[in-house]
Amino acid sequence: MRRTGWIGIVCVALSGCVILGYAGGGLGDAKSVERRYERLSREGWPKPILVFSNGVNVDAEIALGRVLFYDESLSADGKVSCGSCHTSYTAFAHVDHKLSHGVFDREGRRNAPALMNLAWQSGFMWDGAIQHLELQSMAPIAAHTEMGMSLQDYLNGIKQNPRYQSLFALAYPNQPISLPLALKAIARFELTFVSDQSRYDSMRRQQISFTQQENRGYALFQKFCAACHTEPLFTRPGYEYNGWADGLKGMDSAGVVVSGLDRGRALVTGLVNDAYHMKIPTLRNVEVSFPYMHNGGFQSLYQVVKNYSGKRLVVRGDGGGSGISGDSGEGQRKVIDISLDANERVDLVAFLMTLTDRKFLYSMDFVDPRQSPRK
Ligand code: HEC
Ligand code: HEC
Repeated sequence: MRRTGWIGIVCVALSGCVILGYAGGGLGDAKSVERRYERLSREGWPKPILVFSNGVNVDAEIALGRVLFYDESLSADGKVSCGSCHTSYTAFAHVDHKLSHGVFDREGRRNAPALMNLAWQSGFMWDGAIQHLELQSMAPIAAHTEMGMSLQDYLNGIKQNPRYQSLFALAYPNQPISLPLALKAIARFELTFVSDQSRYDSMRRQQISFTQQENRGYALFQKFCAACHTEPLFTRPGYEYNGWADGLKGMDSAGVVVSGLDRGRALVTGLVNDAYHMKIPTLRNVEVSFPYMHNGGFQSLYQVVKNYSGKRLVVRGDGGGSGISGDSGEGQRKVIDISLDANERVDLVAFLMTLTDRKFLYSMDFVDPRQSPRK
């Protein structure tokens, strides 16, 4: 099974993890938290979970990661890079694709999520199968339906390209080119995807005020949505069920959704209680990151909001558990009855649109460096 395959990859890589730790402060180690790099500190936001270790070469690492992120020559058919499915101007979601498309046009199982504010996240993938940003890249590199490469071929591809000799030498002087360093550089680049310049942020900083409609939408949001899509990141750790799967197929008598659907978090933990629970996607830049949900089931925000209307959701309120160890980390339960009339739905969508951050979406720092005037 594909799920098991990915977990397998991560486990095989655990020895790599240890190497990462030694090779200059892996993202997760406590000391690197102390040596927080100022770029990832935001007033009014929680402390980032992942940080840049402090070093003179951070910019060179980011530059290397950016080249790797957009290098389609490192895929089985030479056509797919991370950037093929994660496009910066749609907040790194896969524009207009329900399910992602990888090498040889192979279709994946899930919708490519938007990527931003990753430094504040502790679980990756819709089911949280991967817990470390540096390890995450191995999944798409090796996935049959994504880049389709063996990790060895990926590394060989890097070594054979003379351009990488100088990029690695700048980022990691006196260290041989290796897979852990490549993964680390990609993660460094991804950590720079910080979105905090939306209209909502300006409102929070008291630089502007919302319109009456936006204010009404904001109040509805706080009432019905914020328990899962928590401010200011509009996500929080943990895996929740938002009622979407019952719209796809009926429940059986035990209240379990009939098979054939993506069982989400349960694929990782094996726990029945986790079935159909998914990572809570951030709603920042949600205006442009359609289609929505793990399977790309909705095209418009209005459809999403309409689908939520009338739903009774049980918020589990967990903190994400401890991941693949099988702990679902049950927290404070809360029941939310969502009721939204037609006008309120429009107001709520107006609020969601205040989360669009055009500076982030159009930043030249994130585009393919071959297209950017400032390499
Ligand atoms: C073929 C399309 C495709 C390619 C290529 C691809 N991704 Fe993804 N990406 C996805 C999909 C689909 C998911 C969700 C996977 C899941 O939940 O199982 C995802 C998930 C992620 C996540 C987790 C986001 C979150 O919020 O949990 C990160 C980070 C990411 N990708 C980065 C990358 C990087 C780095 C590369 C290149 C090494 C890459 N992706 C290549 C489609 C792609
Ligand atoms: C119980 C927790 C919970 C509540 C409450 C909740 N959501 Fe969600 N939301 C989720 C989860 C989990 C997903 C992903 C589900 C999936 O893909 O199957 C999601 C997905 C979404 C998406 C799709 C985002 C994307 O990038 O694909 C939007 C938009 C959204 N929610 C908006 C809202 C709004 C608006 C409200 C309030 C009316 C709300 N949510 C209430 C948990 C919740």
